[in-house]
Amino acid sequence: MIFDILSLFPGMFVSPLSDSILGKAVERGLISVRVHNIRSYARDKHQMTDDRPFGGGEGMVMKPEPIVSALRAIGPEPRPRIILLSPQGKLFDQRAARRLSGLPRLILICGRYEGVDERVARHFVDEEISIGDYVLTGGELAAMVMVDAITRLIPGVLGNDLSAEAESFVEPILEYPQYTRPQEFQGYKVPEILLSGHHAAIQKWRRGYALLRTRQRRPDLFARLELTAVDRECLGLAEEEEAGAVRRSKPEGAG
Ligand code: ADE
Repeated sequence: MIFDILSLFPGMFVSPLSDSILGKAVERGLISVRVHNIRSYARDKHQMTDDRPFGGGEGMVMKPEPIVSALRAIGPEPRPRIILLSPQGKLFDQRAARRLSGLPRLILICGRYEGVDERVARHFVDEEISIGDYVLTGGELAAMVMVDAITRLIPGVLGNDLSAEAESFVEPILEYPQYTRPQEFQGYKVPEILLSGHHAAIQKWRRGYALLRTRQRRPDLFARLELTAVDRECLGLAEEEEAGAVRRSKPEGAG
């Protein structure tokens, strides 16, 4: 996969792309990331990349010419999907990551200031994407989020390909809580059942907690689940255990 990133701040990409799993994916040639400075494509003598909005208002708008010149300069081969990062875009999620991970090349345009001239979005871009309902100072971090989420789905990037593959089949539900050694940390114990060696009981505990968490934290996802009788039983057990944990953690004499 080739990522071409158009940005006014190419320096922001250096560390995220050289460390950890992304760094290894680059080193091993599984992805190639080319960051292009939009300012180098500004033709006027001040190399202006932004200007005041027509119609008035606060802030500055990114001019179309430098962006479109950059697109022309980096060329149409291999055929790219051109994406503009902005808070006005469609929400990025795991499905979008999977869809895009199958393509040979993505061009990610990072907006700054109050936005990008609308003619870029309308006539030179295939889709506009937002990574969440909050406003960042620019599209750079959003582009990095996308590169990360997409790259880990490319075969060979994760040590164990099955883990990424399995994700595409699992239902949309939060993960169960995980614990590792020590068994007791500052007085807090690992749930006993996880130490029991009872595989079936552990599975039920995990299922129950995954459902409970999803209900508590993501009611939107929970509402779409179709629970089986066993699911309800597991959820009930997790609820009981949590109620007990809350009672135990209350100070003496309180309620
Ligand atoms: N630029 C500013 N905020 C953004 C967001 N939430 N997603 C994508 N690009 C952005």
